Amino acid sequence: MIGIGSDHAGFELKGYIIEHLKERGIEVKDYGVYNEDSVDYPDCAVPVCEAVLSGECERGILICGTGIGISISANKIKGIRAALCGDVFSAAMAKEHNDANVICLGGRVVGRELAYMIVDAWLDREHLGGKHARRVAKIHALEQ
Ligand code: RB5
Repeated sequence: MIGIGSDHAGFELKGYIIEHLKERGIEVKDYGVYNEDSVDYPDCAVPVCEAVLSGECERGILICGTGIGISISANKIKGIRAALCGDVFSAAMAKEHNDANVICLGGRVVGRELAYMIVDAWLDREHLGGKHARRVAKIHALEQ
């Protein structure tokens, strides 16, 4: 199960990504928002991150206008490793190296086709472990 959420500026791209995931046969749960009324992106990060941390969702996708605000917000939540990705290589590395449990996109930055490729690259890779796992553990040590 993949959790997905956005603010108003990510609403349109969120809908496209949900359709894309469904076409791939991937279960997706939409945590809102459900229209383009103006909201505050930190509020939108929380439900998806909580779903990832509780295990309700395996991974999360967050979208705001640039992806910046919602990624900064998500990374304040202990246990979340949110990667803002605007290219396919970074998305693949976000999983292989950083074991990102949340990916963030800019709805006003990337087009839908690129967004699909970014999400797919992140979903289809596995964390490489080893030295990368050691580094991820050091990220979480910073939370203490
Ligand atoms: C909303 O206008 C915009 O600031 C937000 O979606 C995001 O881009 C913030 O980082």
